[in-house]
Amino acid sequence: TPSDLRDLLRFTTTLARKAGNLILEGSEAISKASASGVNEKKNSVDLVTEYDVKVEELVKQEIKDGYPNWGFIGEESYSSGARHPLTDEPTFCVDPIDGTTNFVHGFPFACISIGIIDQKKPVLGVVYNPFLDHLYTGVKGQGSYLIRNGGTAQKLPLTGARPLPSLSQALVAIEWGSDRKASILTKKSDSFLRLAGDPDNGIEKGRMAHSLRSMGSAALNFAMVAQGGLDMYWEIGCWAWDVCAGVIIAQEAGGFVTGSKDCPHDGNITEEILTGRKYLVIRGIADTPNESGIDAQKR
Ligand code: IPD
Repeated sequence: TPSDLRDLLRFTTTLARKAGNLILEGSEAISKASASGVNEKKNSVDLVTEYDVKVEELVKQEIKDGYPNWGFIGEESYSSGARHPLTDEPTFCVDPIDGTTNFVHGFPFACISIGIIDQKKPVLGVVYNPFLDHLYTGVKGQGSYLIRNGGTAQKLPLTGARPLPSLSQALVAIEWGSDRKASILTKKSDSFLRLAGDPDNGIEKGRMAHSLRSMGSAALNFAMVAQGGLDMYWEIGCWAWDVCAGVIIAQEAGGFVTGSKDCPHDGNITEEILTGRKYLVIRGIADTPNESGIDAQKR
């Protein structure tokens, strides 16, 4: 019910701010200790730090105390083999530090992302960037909001976000991701080329958006689309914890989450998203990705 959702939002934002403090503490510790405490997962660009694990432990414990019967899917638990099955029950879906590479480098765009799914649908999301003190929230049927520096909540999208007639006027987020195999990267870089290059000057099927950006955090890309600073975010192969909170924040701000005709997707957390096998695209207000020449292959 809405009052349950309000309690849940209070619990989740308090938890996100607590996790944010630990992320800041970790950032300080990492900058002093240079590269120590940074480990590689599947390759030298897929990073995890002791703080990813610490933040997840904190969040997991508080959720266990507050909502003992609810499911928990977390990036680090999942990577270490503690894989909670995807069910229709209410489940927290958490990325303790989304933007770990930024976190390691001191690039101040990293966040805690806490989403809640019910019947596999994202119903509540909180994304908190402690470096900028930006807190994004989205609740099913109740809109999305941004609180900056403890100020008043601003409804998203912020005023000034204008509808766009075409992708050619859009600012588009893309990500390189951590899968750097030629088969994946070629599809991505071909899509980037078609989005950035001039079709009148040699780029076949190009649409030449205004420009491309990478925030280095899937959750913050979603949040920035919700805010209105980005028109679209496109990435192949996100994981459930990267997108869960962002999906509802973007949807509640009027955003549209979609796949392609070969690879349909509506923002629900499916088994394929959970296991990182599906590509995902979020559209702000530009025309449809299928018309954009973006490659829509599964990975
Ligand atoms: C990654 C970031 C990155 C995106 C990857 C994610 P992590 O999450 O969101 O921007 O390109 O797909 O896996 O590893 O920093 O939690």
